Amino acid sequence: SERFAQFKLVLLGESAVGKSSLVNRFAKDRFDEFRQSTIGAAFLTQSVRLEPDTVIKFEIWDTAGQERYKSLAPMYYRNANCAVVVFDLTSSTSLGRAKSWVKELQLQASDNIVIALAANKADLTSKRQVDREEAAEYAREAGLLYFETSAKTGESVKEMFKAIAERMPIE
Ligand code: GTP
Ligand code: MG
Repeated sequence: SERFAQFKLVLLGESAVGKSSLVNRFAKDRFDEFRQSTIGAAFLTQSVRLEPDTVIKFEIWDTAGQERYKSLAPMYYRNANCAVVVFDLTSSTSLGRAKSWVKELQLQASDNIVIALAANKADLTSKRQVDREEAAEYAREAGLLYFETSAKTGESVKEMFKAIAERMPIE
C-alpha cells in the first residue's frame, strides 16, 4: 500500500527572480524566456515520489513579487508547511530581499516551517553577483536548505523539491 500526504508550499522573493519559472519547470518541465509577471498569486499542484512507497503532493502558492502585492503575502504563508525563498544570483539586492522574507517567515509563519533558499539563474555564470560560499553560509546559519537552481536548464529544481518533501512530517 502507498502512503500519501499533502502539504502547502509558498514561493516568495523579489519580482523577476524566477519563482513562476521554477514552479513551471517543476510542475510542467517547461521554461518560457518571456513570462508575464504574476498578478496576486498563482496556484498549482505537483507531486513528488519518495522511495519506496510515499507520494507527497505539494499545493503550491506562487506569489507575486511586485511591491504592490507585498501585503497579500501573509495570506499565502500562513499555515504553509514549507517555503521556497528565491533570489537571482545575478542580483545582490534580490538576496537582501530574500533575507527579509526569511526573517518574516521565521517570525510570522508556522514554527516548524521548512524553508529552502533558491539561488536561481545558475545558468548565468558570467553575470553572477552573489558568491556561493557567502549565500550557503547565510543559509546554514539561518537553518535553511540551500540550492543553486536554474529554471532554464532545470538544474537542481527537482532535487530541491524532493529535499523539501523528504523533510515533511509523515506518519
Ligand atoms: P514575479 O511574478 O513578478 O514575482 O516574477 P517571478 O519571480 O515569478 O519571475 P519569472 O518566473 O516571471 O521570471 C522572470 C524572468 O526571468 C523571465 O524572463 C524568465 O524567463 C527569467 N528566468 C527565470 N528563471 C531563470 C533562470 O533560471 N535562468 C535564466 N537565464 N532566466 C530565468
Ligand atoms: Mg511570477
